[in-house]
Amino acid sequence: MRMLKRRSLLGGAVAGAGTVMIGRPAAARGDQSAARRTWWKEAVIYEVYPRSFKDSNNDGIGDLPGIIDKLSYIRDLGADTIWLAPIFASPNRDNGYDISDYKAIMPEFGTMSDFDRLMEKASSLGLRIILDLVVNHTSDQHPWFQKSRASKDGPYRDYYIWREPKGGLPPNNWPSPWGGSAWTFDAASDSSYLHLFSPYQPDLNWDNPAVRDEVFSIMKFWLDKGVAGFRMDAITMISKMPSFRDMTVEELKAPEYVYAAGPHLHAYLREMNDRVLSHYDVMTVGEAYGMHAQDIPLFTDSGRRELDMVFAFDIVHVDRQGWRKIAWPLSKLKDIYAAAGRPQSPDSWNTVFLDNHDQPRAVSRFGNDTAFFREASAKAIATMLLTQCGTPFIYQGEELGMTNLPFEGLEDFEDVQVPTAWETLVKRQGVDPEAFFESLKGLGRDNARSPMQWDASKNAGFTTADKPWYRVNPNHIQINARECLNNPDSVYYYFRDLIALRRKHPALVHGSYQDLDPDHSAVFFYCRESGKSRLFILINMSDRGFTYDSPHLAQASLLISNMAHRGGTRGVTWLAPWEARVYTA
Ligand code: NOJ
Ligand code: CA
Repeated sequence: MRMLKRRSLLGGAVAGAGTVMIGRPAAARGDQSAARRTWWKEAVIYEVYPRSFKDSNNDGIGDLPGIIDKLSYIRDLGADTIWLAPIFASPNRDNGYDISDYKAIMPEFGTMSDFDRLMEKASSLGLRIILDLVVNHTSDQHPWFQKSRASKDGPYRDYYIWREPKGGLPPNNWPSPWGGSAWTFDAASDSSYLHLFSPYQPDLNWDNPAVRDEVFSIMKFWLDKGVAGFRMDAITMISKMPSFRDMTVEELKAPEYVYAAGPHLHAYLREMNDRVLSHYDVMTVGEAYGMHAQDIPLFTDSGRRELDMVFAFDIVHVDRQGWRKIAWPLSKLKDIYAAAGRPQSPDSWNTVFLDNHDQPRAVSRFGNDTAFFREASAKAIATMLLTQCGTPFIYQGEELGMTNLPFEGLEDFEDVQVPTAWETLVKRQGVDPEAFFESLKGLGRDNARSPMQWDASKNAGFTTADKPWYRVNPNHIQINARECLNNPDSVYYYFRDLIALRRKHPALVHGSYQDLDPDHSAVFFYCRESGKSRLFILINMSDRGFTYDSPHLAQASLLISNMAHRGGTRGVTWLAPWEARVYTA
C-alpha cells in the first residue's frame, strides 16, 4: 500500500497532452531560443509494435484498427506521442523492417483509410504519431531491388551496392553484425549485394542522389499526412566506406563502429534536414547503433541541424559481451546516466529507454521478475526511467511489468536473427550450445514481441483467433492490463503517476543532474534541479533492505513512492528491497 492517495498526491487528473498541432510547417527550427523548449523534449513516448498490440479481425495478427481501439488506453497512461514500429507493406522476414512499398500499409495491418482514421482519432485525443523510417535497406522484394537485380545497366542497378566476388569469395570480409557475411551472391548477374542485416534486407546506396530523392519523397508523403516525425532505423549506417577495404582483426570485433563511420553520414542527414525536416514542426530520433557516446552531439546538437535525439546503445550493451549475457553492476548504469546528464554540447538532447522491440523485458533485465519482487522492481526501474535526463520511451507492456518469455528450445524463437546467430556462433565458431541458449533466453528480441497481455482470457485478449502469430506469455493470467486497471497499486497506475509527476515538475525534464552517491552498490540516489526546484530520487536497486542515511533527506518531503513510507529520523531511513521514492526539497 502506498502512503498517499494518487489524486491528492498529484493534484488532480493526469495531465493531458493538450492541444496538438501536428505536421504543420515550422517557421524557424534553427532558432536557439525556440529550440530550448520544444514539445518533444517534454514528450513521453509510447512504442507500439503493431503486430503484437491488438488484433481486431481475429486473424492472430495485431493491426491498425486494434491500435485505434486502444488509443485511449495509451492516452490515459499519460503518454502523448506514439512511435509505431513499421506499418508498411513487407514480406515480414524481419517483421516489417524489410519494406517492399514505403507508401502502402501492410495489408495484414489494414488499409490507408485505417491509417487516416488512426491519425484522426489520435489527434482528437491529443496524441501525436511518429513512424519508423527504415531506409538503410529495403526488402529484397521491393521493386527497386527486383529491378536492380534484373539488369546491370538499368537505372535501378545503382540503387543498391553491388560488387564483384573475389575468386569465389565475397567481395570483402565484412560481416553482418547478425552473423555471416554481409554479402550475398546473385548468380544471375555474377555479383554480390551488400546487406548489413539479413540477406532479405539489401542496403540502399545513399551515394546515389536518386536514392536520396526517393527517401525524401517518402518522408514528405507521411509528413503531409500529419505524422509528427520519425524514428530512424539503423540511420548511422547509411554512408558506406568508399574503399570497401577489408576490416582489420580489431575492427571485426565490433564491425558496427566501422559501418557507422561513413564519410557522408552527417552530410546526408543535413541534406535531409534542409530539404525535408526543417519544413515541418516534427521530431526525429535516430537509432545510433555503432556510435560512441562522445560522438552523439554530432547528431543532436541543434546547431548542426541533423537529428533531434538518438537512442544511444550503452544501455543495450550494459549486460552483454558479444553474444554472451553478463552481469551488470549498478555502477555501469550510474556511469551511463552520469554521462548523459553532463551537457556535452549547448543544445543537444537525450532519450531514456530500457525496453523496446529489440530488447528483453526491462523488469526481467534490470529488476527482478520473480513473483515476490516483480511489481516493486518494475516500479523502481520505472522511477529511474521517468526521472532521468532525456525524453522517455515506454515500450508496450512495460507499464504492466510484462516479463521475458519461458523459452524451452530454439524452436520457440521467431526472430530472423536467431538461425544466423546459431549457425555462425555454435556451428562455425564452436560456442557451447547450452551457454548460447542461456544467453539467448535472457537477451533475445522475441522476449519483447509476444502479444500484449490485455486480460486473463485465452490468448490474453490479444486475439480471439485460435492461434496468435506468436506465443502468448503464460503468465498473462496474473499479468495483464485488466488486472492492472482494477488494482490501484498496480505497475500501470504507478507509471501514470510518474508521468503526471514529470509533467508537474519541469526540473524532471529540463533540470540538471547530479549523482549524490555514485559509489553505493545498491542505492541510486540523484538530484534533478532547475531554478528553485530540487527533486531527489532515491531507489534501492536490490533485493535486500537496509537503512540509508543522507542529510538531503532530513528536510525533504515525499512526492511519490512505490511502497508504504515508514518515515525515519534526521535523514536516516529504512529502504525496503526495490523501494523507490521521489522527494522535493
Ligand atoms: C533495428 C530495428 O529496431 C530492428 O528490429 C531491425 O531488425 C534492424 N534495425 C534492421 O532493420
Ligand atoms: Ca488482425
